[in-house]
Amino acid sequence: DRRTTVLRREAVIATVPLALAALLVAAGPASAGPLGEAGVGDPYFPQAGNGGYHVGHYDLTLRYDPTSRHLDGHAVLTARATQRLTRFDLDLNGLKVTGLTVEHRKAAFRRDGQELVVTPRRALRQGQVFRIAVTYHGTPGPVTDPDGSLDGWVPTDDGAFVAGEPQGAMTWFPANNHPKDKSSYDFTITVPKGRTAVANGVLLGQRTANGLTTFRWHQPEPMAAYLATATVGKFQVEQYTTRDGIRVYNAVDPREAADAAPVLKKLPSVLEWASKLFGPYPYRAAGAIVDRAPDVGYALETQTRPVYDRAPDLDTLVHESAHQWFGDSVSLTSWKDIWLNEGFATYAEWLYNEQHGDDSAQQTFDALYARPADDDLWAFPPAAPGSGANIFGTPVYARGAMALHRLRTTVGDRAFLRILRTWAAERRDGHGTTAQFVRLAERVSGKELDALFRTWVYTEGKPNKP
Ligand code: ARG
Ligand code: ZN
Repeated sequence: DRRTTVLRREAVIATVPLALAALLVAAGPASAGPLGEAGVGDPYFPQAGNGGYHVGHYDLTLRYDPTSRHLDGHAVLTARATQRLTRFDLDLNGLKVTGLTVEHRKAAFRRDGQELVVTPRRALRQGQVFRIAVTYHGTPGPVTDPDGSLDGWVPTDDGAFVAGEPQGAMTWFPANNHPKDKSSYDFTITVPKGRTAVANGVLLGQRTANGLTTFRWHQPEPMAAYLATATVGKFQVEQYTTRDGIRVYNAVDPREAADAAPVLKKLPSVLEWASKLFGPYPYRAAGAIVDRAPDVGYALETQTRPVYDRAPDLDTLVHESAHQWFGDSVSLTSWKDIWLNEGFATYAEWLYNEQHGDDSAQQTFDALYARPADDDLWAFPPAAPGSGANIFGTPVYARGAMALHRLRTTVGDRAFLRILRTWAAERRDGHGTTAQFVRLAERVSGKELDALFRTWVYTEGKPNKP
């Protein structure tokens, strides 16, 4: 968000002596200046994330009352400055901030839309590791995305369904809210006795006193903020360890339990199947949160433990499981690359069906290809959806999967699976872009694949018959 930065810079310049102003101007491009940018430069979500620092760890202490829908929060972020910083932003939507310290000293702050603008007492040096502590409270609610869907903290009749893709993390904690920044997390969540609070990773402990239960969750592997959850409700809980030593924790809304049970039973076999194809499961915890949430209309691959707004079908379980490799472990650097998440998770469904006696991927491809040129499927190219309103559109999912199928038929099954496995292995707990995926596919297959990707992920309109 260059314009805001320029305005801010002017505001600073107006208040300092001329000589100093000249120095500031001479300091070069805004990104190198002492003010952290208000966004990471995502073309679809310009305010998302913040410049100037990286968050290594979030320690979130929350207390939620489902009756009053009141949330009390205390967030301690351990961050590292990537430049000198006299001021930086966090993303926070709504909620009231009552206290903020940087390095244990009170810091000045103000709100500006979704930006929480922080001015520490002392400037932070480039490379400095520093702590930010934010105390806040309020009645959280979801944000409305450009496509009209809701995400973030969505209150339910017995708690809250919490899913933050792409923007909603900032509705319940102050964040560097962009998948470019990944961090480990600790959650301490207190809810009335009888309710369960489910977050990511491993359950460290649970304690009830004075009518309140506190759940402590630990997510050691790096996670993008949108993949965090703290879903609260009345749940049936099931815990076990798989043959591979993965700790499973399922929390299921009793109203969905009968429908969910036969599908959730397959989770260990789905993870085993996916591990054979894509390489080792990236986390030590897994599970599912099934929480009836009529206002939501989707599931989300919240890290280690996807959230489902109703009992999932097997395709959806496979889809969210595949995201643990593609999307969660290997993250986006820009929302326009969303097909790297959704096209891959959709193709995993095709592969699963093919290998379990259902339609072959070729049959699925053919059925889609038969759709007329004016069908929604061809409305825009998957790697260039054009705006945040399209990131969950049909072309991203289905034409994205079709692109992978074209890759598979072009390079052969062996090379194709090697490409997927290498992608997951080399970028585990990291990031990848479409251009990097194309380069990897060429490296592994030894084939020139520019034309294939140009046709299938970058070019408008229905591609000619392959
Ligand atoms: N990534 C989710 C999936 O598994 C979809 C999330 C949709 N989010 C939204 N705000 N509409 O496909
Ligand atoms: Zn998905």
